[in-house]
Amino acid sequence: MRKALLATTALAAASVLALTGCGGSSSRTEAGNASAASGFAADSTIGVALPSKTSENWVLAGDLFSNGLKEAGFKGDVQYAGASTTVKDQQDQINAMVTKGAKVIVVGAADAGQLATQLKAARDAGAKVIAYDRIITNTPDVDYYVGFDAKKVGQLQAESLMEALKAKKPSGPYTIELFSGSPDDANSAVFFDGAMSVLTPLIADGTIVVGSGQKDIKQTSTAGWKAENAQSRMDSLLTGTYGSKELDGVLSPNDTLARAILTSVKAAGKPIPVVTGQDSEAESVKSIMAGEQYSTIYKDTRLLVAQVIKMTQSLQKGEAPELNDTKSYNNGAKVLESYLLEPVIVTKEDAAEAYAANPSLAPLTK
Ligand code: BGC
Repeated sequence: MRKALLATTALAAASVLALTGCGGSSSRTEAGNASAASGFAADSTIGVALPSKTSENWVLAGDLFSNGLKEAGFKGDVQYAGASTTVKDQQDQINAMVTKGAKVIVVGAADAGQLATQLKAARDAGAKVIAYDRIITNTPDVDYYVGFDAKKVGQLQAESLMEALKAKKPSGPYTIELFSGSPDDANSAVFFDGAMSVLTPLIADGTIVVGSGQKDIKQTSTAGWKAENAQSRMDSLLTGTYGSKELDGVLSPNDTLARAILTSVKAAGKPIPVVTGQDSEAESVKSIMAGEQYSTIYKDTRLLVAQVIKMTQSLQKGEAPELNDTKSYNNGAKVLESYLLEPVIVTKEDAAEAYAANPSLAPLTK
């Protein structure tokens, strides 16, 4: 585990430090080259439309964008979708950014499939559109995608789940339950598919059993990424399936849901299963250090925002931005020109090392 972590951390560091490394090898469309060549004023408005604050990473991203864009000399316009009217809010916010003449609009999509009209208007007005952290689906009007590799996130979650189950008891079958994220977030299916690429063969050979039989993403999803929805589904699973049967593990797509699942298990007085997560939220890091949640994923928001600001600076100068992937993420209308960062899996054993350079998380591992 330690070796694997070091390797991944090195990769992540390399991809961030060698910011000009792989860009040259990426193929670029003619349209991309032509429009990149024009540039725009150094004090232009840059819009950032984020979803509602469903996890800590979004809260952090808003602050980092406001400060980072200001430092870079731009006028940042950072907006969040509200908690209940997320889609409409975000559509209106993007329209307002277009009206203000934003030259780049960065979008963390509240609903991946509901932005085509607004993004077409944005590009018609000459703005560049960057999909941030989540892909935006079924529209050609996305110029670039910058995010952590979501398929890898799912794979790492499933691998850590299996590693912990095997450490708990040497042989299966292991009984688990599966949770996935909100259906309107395109990442949810990518995380789930990444995890299922590891788990499906193990279900097929009988090593693991999904106790409730709920294996389809329609059954496992968590509307709005809301803790209460995961908690009530876990309550029902425990009542319906785990009267006497033991639950060994739960695939949870992020930390907010992991903690909700643990709350449910504890309220039912059941032994704590192996539970995965994502985001390295402070409360989950504490839970991992206390031996409850098993793993999380570290996606350093500082690196992600810095990469988007760097891309914006390239576009401002009329230069082609750096990309390192032009094949992995197809949004249904086109293959996205992307810059992908490496997610890092973190367990109690690795936490101090993984968060050493993060001033808010490092103290939690002491
Ligand atoms: C992000 C995750 C986050 C989730 C809920 C996803 O799109 O990639 O990091 O946990 O949204 O906010």
